[in-house]
Amino acid sequence: MKKNVAFPKGFFWGSATSAHQVEGNNVNDWSEPERQNAVRLAKEAKKYWRKWQQDKFPEMFNSENYISGKACDHYNRFEEDFDIAKSLGHNAHRFSVEWSRIEPEEGQFNEKEIEHYKKVVKTLRERGIEPFVTLWHWTQPLWIRDIGGWENKKTIDYFGRYVEKLAASFGDGVKFWIVVNEPNIYAALGYIRGNQPPGVKNIFKAIKVFNNLTDAHKKAHQIIHKCDETAKVGSANSVIYFQPKNNFFVNRVIVSVADYFWNRRFFKNVSGFSDFLGVNYYTRRLVGFSFGAEEQKPVSDLGWEIVPEGIYYVLKNLKNYNLPVYITENGIADAKDDKREEFITQHLRMVHKAIEDGVDVRGYFYWSLLDNFEFPEVRGFWPRFGLVEVDYKTMARTIRPSAKVYAAICKNNGIEN
Ligand code: FCB
Repeated sequence: MKKNVAFPKGFFWGSATSAHQVEGNNVNDWSEPERQNAVRLAKEAKKYWRKWQQDKFPEMFNSENYISGKACDHYNRFEEDFDIAKSLGHNAHRFSVEWSRIEPEEGQFNEKEIEHYKKVVKTLRERGIEPFVTLWHWTQPLWIRDIGGWENKKTIDYFGRYVEKLAASFGDGVKFWIVVNEPNIYAALGYIRGNQPPGVKNIFKAIKVFNNLTDAHKKAHQIIHKCDETAKVGSANSVIYFQPKNNFFVNRVIVSVADYFWNRRFFKNVSGFSDFLGVNYYTRRLVGFSFGAEEQKPVSDLGWEIVPEGIYYVLKNLKNYNLPVYITENGIADAKDDKREEFITQHLRMVHKAIEDGVDVRGYFYWSLLDNFEFPEVRGFWPRFGLVEVDYKTMARTIRPSAKVYAAICKNNGIEN
């Protein structure tokens, strides 16, 4: 029989979003590529997705799917959206600030936009929701793109100035900062696979970008602490559960190499400059050689295998950093909402098991509060991760049944049978 599961007192429960994916009408380095590639992507959808996905999501053949446009209009509807988060028992929320809004031209800060995000923070606080602010979630101002983005070391200094401006503006309103989101995925997709802006395929550039993001993290940590000694500063990285296809020695070696480069390297490089680790966990990857076929787990609408025990292993693997951990993303694309309840509950049971084993996990943010515009370029609007469904024509919000199950967990600070 499954037992009741209680989480530590003061645990943060919530969901996550990012500016470009929900706000609408952003002008950044994604805007042009989205418009330029939309027709091509709609044509190529057949190549990327399986038959069952194509049948279930014919939107992928429509070029509009690949243009973020109004997104969820969250920029104008954040109050209503945070009312929903509150009604769902969330006591924390992760969102990102869009750098291109704050500093559309080099050195020219837009005070109106700063006021907007101050209002976002205030609106959360008024609802008893702790803001977790991401400073960079993959998009940048056009002038940063034009100097070479994160390939250029100067971007680190410009980023520092932007961080300083925000830290001074938010003051006491923000205690938790997530400096960068998934530097590993950003470098891999933007600079190795080249299937999202800036669309480069060059491993040396990818390494440079990754290292510059590491330095940006360290710099932001110092800047924010100068403004507020008590602030908690970390970054979120993608963490994958690498499993060997079988127990051959060489497969185990491949797992440890993948684990080091993908899961640990960023956290290791910023150690001493992090007050917590942000873990984004979605699925596993089988690696190495084998002679037979592997057992397939059930999958999400994106075809990602559902592997709740993976979150336990990746958390255990990060224990020796001796830092508090926040699950800054974990979620499932599930338009019908028939797998999400189980997905959340099973993952949380595994998070709890890791806590029992001594990992200091202090919060969980489901990805995402709303259906949204999904990175990278081959996705767009059709994968639906939301606790809340969005009708992109009317912008109506509908709370999914699984959101209510998660709400009960948030309110009880645990899972009851
Ligand atoms: C992560 C991104 C996030 C979201 C999820 C599904 O890699 O950080 O913005 O798109 O994937």
